[in-house]
Amino acid sequence: MGGLRFILNDEDVEISEIKATETLLDYLRLTKRLKGSKEGCAEGDCGACTVLVGRLRGGELSYETVNACICFVGMLHGTHIVTIEHLSPASGPLHPVQQAMVDYHGSQCGFCTPGIVMSLYGLWMKEPKPGVPAIETALQGNLCRCTGYAPIVKAGLAMSDYGDVAADPLLVHRAAMKARLAALQDGATVDIGAGKDRIIVPGSVDALAAIYAAHPEATLVSGATDVGLWVTKFMRDIGPMIYIGGLEELHSIEESAAALTLGAGVTYTEARAPVVKHFSQLTELWDRIGGGQVRNAGTVGANIANGSPIGDTPPPFIALGGHITLRRGNERREVKLRDYFIAYGKQDRQPGEFVEKVTIPYLPDGEQFACYKITKRKDEDISALCGAFRIFVNDSGVVWMARIAFGGMAATPKRAKAVEEALVGKPWTTETVEAAIAAFAVDYQPLTDMRASAEYRLLAAQNLLRRFHLETIGSVERLSKAVA
Ligand SMILES: Cc1cc2nc3c(=O)[nH]c(=O)nc-3n(C[C@H](O)[C@H](O)[C@H](O)COP(=O)(O)OP(=O)(O)OC[C@H]3O[C@@H](n4cnc5c(N)ncnc54)[C@H](O)[C@@H]3O)c2cc1C
Ligand code: FES
Ligand code: FES
Repeated sequence: MGGLRFILNDEDVEISEIKATETLLDYLRLTKRLKGSKEGCAEGDCGACTVLVGRLRGGELSYETVNACICFVGMLHGTHIVTIEHLSPASGPLHPVQQAMVDYHGSQCGFCTPGIVMSLYGLWMKEPKPGVPAIETALQGNLCRCTGYAPIVKAGLAMSDYGDVAADPLLVHRAAMKARLAALQDGATVDIGAGKDRIIVPGSVDALAAIYAAHPEATLVSGATDVGLWVTKFMRDIGPMIYIGGLEELHSIEESAAALTLGAGVTYTEARAPVVKHFSQLTELWDRIGGGQVRNAGTVGANIANGSPIGDTPPPFIALGGHITLRRGNERREVKLRDYFIAYGKQDRQPGEFVEKVTIPYLPDGEQFACYKITKRKDEDISALCGAFRIFVNDSGVVWMARIAFGGMAATPKRAKAVEEALVGKPWTTETVEAAIAAFAVDYQPLTDMRASAEYRLLAAQNLLRRFHLETIGSVERLSKAVA
């Protein structure tokens, strides 16, 4: 059986033994002595370690920024890794993105600079002449402590003045690289190492199902934006590790007449277009999940599977009536998201069972829906609380149905059943909302932690209901008039 095979810059690499916990950043810096990528935080926050990872999906090759500090070497099978060293020869000339950064004074101490160049480079290849919003989005996951962002944004605006993207080696040699990567992916399962350093990369979802049923003690790894931190912050072992993020079948996106279904391995970046198309109310939330590097790796399936009380997708998906499909061996079952989260750290998922897909019904006509994320800083921050509201107000102005769910307010993502009850059957008025506010304390007894105090959380949740009411009364009234 072959080892892990990938391409690092121009070099073909094959690995038959490596620690399951070995991060790409350590591998680059300590084994390959490629020290351009820096370690700032080792938790996916600062972007100093940003590299590009090229993957074949649906026959197309695309390069995306990834935080090397929380990406394991075991996740690289069949990929092309591009580091800052690949951009220009040691003796120069500089790459257009690098030259723009120099000329616009986009670097002072320089520690963040390789990561910032890689993020701008990733953007440049997709959008050669980006505007300020696109540059700011591309830099959401890159922290610079000393330069200030204005010169960096100016460099981003000027990148194309320094060279033609069509002449960039990654684009010029794209066809050849596609062929090289296709040759690495023979559909066979990779299984290397033993014990806690065993790394398995199943060749198909059927192979995954069989392997995980036989080894339920293994750690599934998809984008590693959670698991990476178990290693870098808590020094945990994760082996045997089963890497599932490369499985094409888990990246399927299905838009039926009634619902959107996302394979468990669909990343936030891949899901953005269909999510925004069918649930435009989630656009802001989606663009505020992590930074670009986290959205390029992190997956919707794992956000639900991990059972975190502060994951951003469970509240809206519970409110929308979503469900997951769980699979163990060849058996499948569907579980409503509202029933999946049982208690802190406990979900309705059996050993050897994995999330195969996530299904979210579209919002029926006439219903109102919104989702609000409250964080300490706007970009790349985990929610202190995240609340989703969905109501149907009938043509007499009475609340017919209410579904409210919050993250960050309890040990699990949880519905606000007492608040819902206080609204249903009442007119959608300020008086009804004010009377329902007290029920939040029945549904939730939030904790105080570094993100927010219990009092703040409760008050913010109450105010979000007030906000939802104010934002919807106009359209509800218009709708009632239209129906009348
Ligand atoms: C800097 C940073 C910012 C972040 N910001 C946000 C944010 O704004 N909002 C937010 O919600 N989250 C955020 N996160 C957390 C994380 O990105 C999300 O939870 C993400 O969805 C995890 O996906 P993943 O594929 O990387 O999971 P992984 O780390 O690969 O896996 C997470 C867990 O899910 C399990 N798992 C993975 N796939 C499956 C499957 N198919 N079936 C069963 N179990 C599975 C794994 O075994 C593990 O227990 C952030 C993380 C970082 C590092
Ligand atoms: S070192 Fe900070 S994101 Fe990787
Ligand atoms: S130049 Fe010093 S951190 Fe950005």
